[in-house]
Amino acid sequence: MRNNNINFIVITLIFFLVSCKKSVNTSEPLVSNINSVELNKAIEAKVDSLLSIMTLEEKIGQMNQYNGFWDLTGPKPEEGIAAKKYDHLRKGLVGSMLNVRGVKDVKTVQKIAVEESRLGIPLIIGFDVIHGYKTISPIPLAEAASWDMEAIKKSAEVAAQEASAAGINWTFAPMVDISRDARWGRVMEGAGEDPFLGSKIAEARVKGFQGDDLSANNTIVACAKHFAGYGFAESGRDYNTVDIGTSTLNNIIFPPFKATIKAGVRTFMNSFNELNGVPATGNKFLQRDILKNDWKFDGFIVSDWGSIGEMVAHGYAKDGKAAAEMAISGGADMDMESYLYAAHLAELVEEGKIDEKLINDAARRVLRIKFELGLFDDPYKYCNKKREEEIIGSASNHKTVLDIAKKSIVLLKNENSTLPLKKKGQKIALIGALASDKNSPLGSWRIGAEDNSAISVLEGMQKYEDNILTYTKGANVTIGETKFGIETKINTTDKSEFQNAVKAARNADVVIMVLGEIGFQSGEGRSRTEIGLPGVQQELLETVYKENPNIVLVLTNGRPLAITWADKNIPAIVEAWHLGSQSGNAIAQVLYGDYNPSGKLPMTFPRSVGQIPIYYNYKNTGRPTLPAPDVVFWSHYSDQKNTPLYAFGHGLSYTSFKYKNLEVDNTSSINNPEIKVSVDITNTGKYEGKEVAQLYIRDLFASVTRPVKELKGFELISLQPGETKTIHFELDSETLGFYDNSGQWVVEPGEFKVFVGGSSNKTIESNFELQ
Ligand code: NOJ
Repeated sequence: MRNNNINFIVITLIFFLVSCKKSVNTSEPLVSNINSVELNKAIEAKVDSLLSIMTLEEKIGQMNQYNGFWDLTGPKPEEGIAAKKYDHLRKGLVGSMLNVRGVKDVKTVQKIAVEESRLGIPLIIGFDVIHGYKTISPIPLAEAASWDMEAIKKSAEVAAQEASAAGINWTFAPMVDISRDARWGRVMEGAGEDPFLGSKIAEARVKGFQGDDLSANNTIVACAKHFAGYGFAESGRDYNTVDIGTSTLNNIIFPPFKATIKAGVRTFMNSFNELNGVPATGNKFLQRDILKNDWKFDGFIVSDWGSIGEMVAHGYAKDGKAAAEMAISGGADMDMESYLYAAHLAELVEEGKIDEKLINDAARRVLRIKFELGLFDDPYKYCNKKREEEIIGSASNHKTVLDIAKKSIVLLKNENSTLPLKKKGQKIALIGALASDKNSPLGSWRIGAEDNSAISVLEGMQKYEDNILTYTKGANVTIGETKFGIETKINTTDKSEFQNAVKAARNADVVIMVLGEIGFQSGEGRSRTEIGLPGVQQELLETVYKENPNIVLVLTNGRPLAITWADKNIPAIVEAWHLGSQSGNAIAQVLYGDYNPSGKLPMTFPRSVGQIPIYYNYKNTGRPTLPAPDVVFWSHYSDQKNTPLYAFGHGLSYTSFKYKNLEVDNTSSINNPEIKVSVDITNTGKYEGKEVAQLYIRDLFASVTRPVKELKGFELISLQPGETKTIHFELDSETLGFYDNSGQWVVEPGEFKVFVGGSSNKTIESNFELQ
């Protein structure tokens, strides 16, 4: 054992002296959005004193992140790199590790950093805690469908509790990339297509992860990613080029990122894509001008996995050294898995190509967050074995994820009140490999979870014992191994079990078919050009339908699917996404009416893949309508409607709601607009139910054309049968304006429409004018 605790003690002593001088109590909570300039000053003073004793190499070390033991969440680094890990930790050349998890392993690496390196600076431990650590919540796109900010925040809190109990103190979430392209596999990880809803969700998730006190041992640092434009990859192909205009960047892509700043997010991740010819990782405009200067972000930016090195393949940097130079100049503070900062930054400083001030600033940002976490007070605060055993997978965490799972389900169609199911005397045929799948509901970001640990639909349905349930797979969705990082092979030929399904359907009162994508068919690197039911499942559906058309189709998937045939023929369709550990219980409770579905789509479902990108807040064009029968000169397709299959905001309930008496108080002026909107909503059906009342506006004429509808408010309400509630919304300069093409926020006079309803395409409307 070298120096052991001595280094840590020396450093602690320095901080103690600094603290005494400033007489500040460092044990008090600190996050950016609460109290106290004093506390920040105290931290800055500590960072200053630490930086003053660090060598250039040690400062660069803080900007270097190593992958951990076994989980690879990106391409394998060069041979030999991993072997250097311990040596570099001892030399103080590593600031962070990712994919190290569990108290035992985290303690091992932390101990080396703290007790064996010269200065004993603790590591920050990052992990993709995307929708849960071991107790898995619904995928983020599903959670977005709940439109329930409290539930979303709670779900992030549970994730933070479990991850922090496993030694982790930094999550690479939330992903706040807006996307309009269901071909892109990562839509599962975001909040859908809308910047307003996306911003609210971004805020809820950051607050859930970080809590009010970042130094508590059950909160973790959040990371807003991927900055920026990643969700607009051309043709929905992951990592592809992004080329978009200022208006889309400012009005669609940036708002959720800005919302995370308001919520106090402490880290950002840049992005694999190039944006208008400049890779995001080396993009000074994004990282320095916008994020660090305009938005005053004082946390740190981590690169995406290997994205610094990838600037060579982009054709932007001529080699690794140039890439390191461009990334640090562009504003990236920490290198995830390129190892180029470690290899070249010192040399670049010595050669005068990089000002050491940039290194100091980046190291300062990283150290600042480590102080905020309280890691210097106790580097092992997340390493308590007893806590790990008690908290991870607790009954109360399962209760929370079950609650959000039910709230995430969207009832897409329910003809003839096919649902809810009768609880007694029914013969039910349950069909589909996904119905017994205990792995897929966990999604693709679930490294901390046990394989096959989700409750399947079959298990959920079996709890309702007064019906006769028969189960058959009918067909496999995939062939062979399916796991993270491995290409999924789809079953396109094997229909040998179809006949079992037909037989099961023959005598059933109701057929429940669970079809869609397995967990690893969406997520990173999993783009698709066809977004119907994969493989032989469509054929299976049609085959069973011929035998018994009384079908409830339960979809499990990580992206909008084009299910036009099903919509036309199947009486009831339930969107159940990948719902996490409690998936089967949530689905069964909804099918049986023990929970009345209340989810609304956060992303448009197309009729066919050719309509993509399709989204509700589109522009009108100069030729929006059919000029006369059979005339072609208008904006349309000759083989498909313009409208979606299911619109943004769509979602049914077992009860029904009526909107009336929309009133708009329009006495406001342009200088200080305050438009008050109210509407009455009545539960006109038989069941108690929840409704998401949505408010949209349209600015009819503007200096930059505005979309036909923009979400500007929503409220989740609960109504008893026959009950009416009046809902109030307020529009102000924050909701009535937009960014013009010079990036200025403007509110312009003129006529507006206002729409309120239970979906973007089912609204009542009124209007007002700003003068
Ligand atoms: C690459 C992904 O794009 C990013 O979101 C993730 O956090 C990192 N890999 C680390 O696993």
